[in-house]
Amino acid sequence: MKTLVAYFSAETGKTRKIAEEIAEKLSADIHEIKPEEPYTAADLKWMNPLARCNREKIGKKDVSVADRVQNWDEYDTVYLGFPIWYYAAPNVVNTFCKNYDWAGKTIRIFATSGSSGIGKTAEKLEPYVKGGKIEDAKRVTSAAEVL
Ligand SMILES: Cc1cc2nc3c(=O)[nH]c(=O)nc-3n(C[C@H](O)[C@H](O)[C@H](O)COP(=O)(O)O)c2cc1C
Repeated sequence: MKTLVAYFSAETGKTRKIAEEIAEKLSADIHEIKPEEPYTAADLKWMNPLARCNREKIGKKDVSVADRVQNWDEYDTVYLGFPIWYYAAPNVVNTFCKNYDWAGKTIRIFATSGSSGIGKTAEKLEPYVKGGKIEDAKRVTSAAEVL
């Protein structure tokens, strides 16, 4: 069985860098979770109540994902990386997770943030990864903390 690193990164590329390093160290496949409509800098200005990020959060909106993971069934372990948005996974990550069958898969969450800890991020994601087992969930600043 194989390992997949699936990640979303939008603002600074911090999460992408860590995901790439994990995939390289584990010789794992890597998949970028991309919204169908990419985020602009204005979309991410959470100080603006009307910004896209706030509208999605408040409306609990699904955010359409651009493309699917190939050969999903081949993976038994998924490292899932994303920035913490509002003390949780971004909506696009929830939507991504809903699109797949997680039965029998082990999930290892790594999240980046400005300052928040991991908090209840994993618990909040659980309804979207039904059947999967979240074995680990950490807020990290480097790949070394995940491996
Ligand atoms: C919409 C939005 C919400 C955020 N919410 C939080 C938060 O609740 N706590 C926190 O510490 N950082 C928060 N941040 C900061 C990001 O988690 C942080 O900059 C992250 O490392 C960015 O990763 P990336 O560059 O890979 O997208 C938020 C950023 C955005 C754009």
